[in-house]
Amino acid sequence: MIKKSPEVAESDVLVLFGATGDLAKKKLFPALYNMARKGALEAEVVGVASTKWDHEQFINNAFTAIRTNVANVDETILAQLDSKLSLVVGNYEDPKVYQDLAEKLSNKLNPVIYLAIPPSLFETVTQGLAAVGLTSHARLVVEKPFGRDSQSAELLQEALERVLPEERIFRIDHYLGKESVEDILIFRFANSIWEPLWNRRYINSVQITMAEDFGIEGRGAFYDGVGAIRDVLQNHLLQVLTLIAMEPPSDLTSQFMEDEKIKVLRAIDPLKADEIVRGQYVGYLDESGVAAGSHTETFAAALLHVDNWRWAGVPFYLRTGKYLAETTLEVVVEFKHPPRLLFAEGQETSPNILRFRLGKNDGVDIELLAKAPGDHLATVPVQLNVEFSAALGDRQEAYERLLRAAMLGDHLRFTRIDSVLESWRIIEDVIHGDPQVYPYFKGTWGPEKVDDLMPQGWIDL
Ligand code: BG6
Repeated sequence: MIKKSPEVAESDVLVLFGATGDLAKKKLFPALYNMARKGALEAEVVGVASTKWDHEQFINNAFTAIRTNVANVDETILAQLDSKLSLVVGNYEDPKVYQDLAEKLSNKLNPVIYLAIPPSLFETVTQGLAAVGLTSHARLVVEKPFGRDSQSAELLQEALERVLPEERIFRIDHYLGKESVEDILIFRFANSIWEPLWNRRYINSVQITMAEDFGIEGRGAFYDGVGAIRDVLQNHLLQVLTLIAMEPPSDLTSQFMEDEKIKVLRAIDPLKADEIVRGQYVGYLDESGVAAGSHTETFAAALLHVDNWRWAGVPFYLRTGKYLAETTLEVVVEFKHPPRLLFAEGQETSPNILRFRLGKNDGVDIELLAKAPGDHLATVPVQLNVEFSAALGDRQEAYERLLRAAMLGDHLRFTRIDSVLESWRIIEDVIHGDPQVYPYFKGTWGPEKVDDLMPQGWIDL
């Protein structure tokens, strides 16, 4: 489905700012290796970093990252990659690093410049790039979160648009690169059986969970200035919500897709203080890089309403957190009970449940009622499951698909500025409001206070 935009040429060089950083190590180098393995990486790759590594250290670190994150690495592919990789070192505040980069790219026509660096540096770096003329033709890829709130996102957008147009800005939300997340679209719009049920008449609630059983993994300095709401809820979770709630686009262009998604976001009222619960795991304040007495949340659960004809009255529950009981990424759609519980005399029946598993071991589970064995016409829940890896084989990694799409100039899996601003609008009041965070113990499902938000509990299959 990735297609080259007719008006843009395929990129001939990929520039990675933050080439010695965490994202490059965990996601970008493994993605580049996978692209090279499939013959989908013709362009050169130029890393830029402030860490003073020489070429050998850079390559060794990149290859260690690949060997750690990819199974059965092929040494001949690494050798090919070696011939494509180079590093420019310098301080991002110093014009020299941009001059060196411009010199290196002097024979390149269509650079893609990926900013895998803290958002606080975006403006400095884009100004440096503009000063040497690189923004006149390059595409710019920026990591999330885009800004810290509506105002800072608008300011950042203005700063970027002073040096390059929106058509050349690619905002990453890597969840949009996950095949499992895209499957929501296929599931809904390629199968006709769901559409009649996909509304407030048949659906009781939607619950979206992104939970991790590990912590901030040495990213304290970054994470403490961000927190779970800005790190995950504002982007990943709201994007998943739009795919669940949107109307079918009339075609798969990025414009039509974004047009439908933004209608969903516009129908959501700003979150109020009593519709969100924030938590912080016990021990967070001892993490390195975390400010003394920090109120940054490592957990957030929220109740949203999509106030349109399809969804009015259906609660959408979102939750995310670090150090929770397990690592999972899922959407649970809870259907209503039948109007008359014919077989339920004296017993509680469970409603039908549809669960999209979007993380590792992705797939779909449907819980239905079957006849319980025995004399009586009583019901018992049974599950229909599909594991996509068993049924369909391996999926591609999100970053591989996103790098490829940016190099082809395809916006489909990137977020448009208006939807980013709508997402900030939804959480604006609560991120600037009472910063109360409730403590929770590692390995639990967050603070008990969440029960006030959702007294009926989260559905666990
Ligand atoms: C990132 C967040 O965007 O997503 C991290 O900054 C989080 O805090 C990560 O761990 C989760 O990504 P995934 O693909 O493992 O669900």
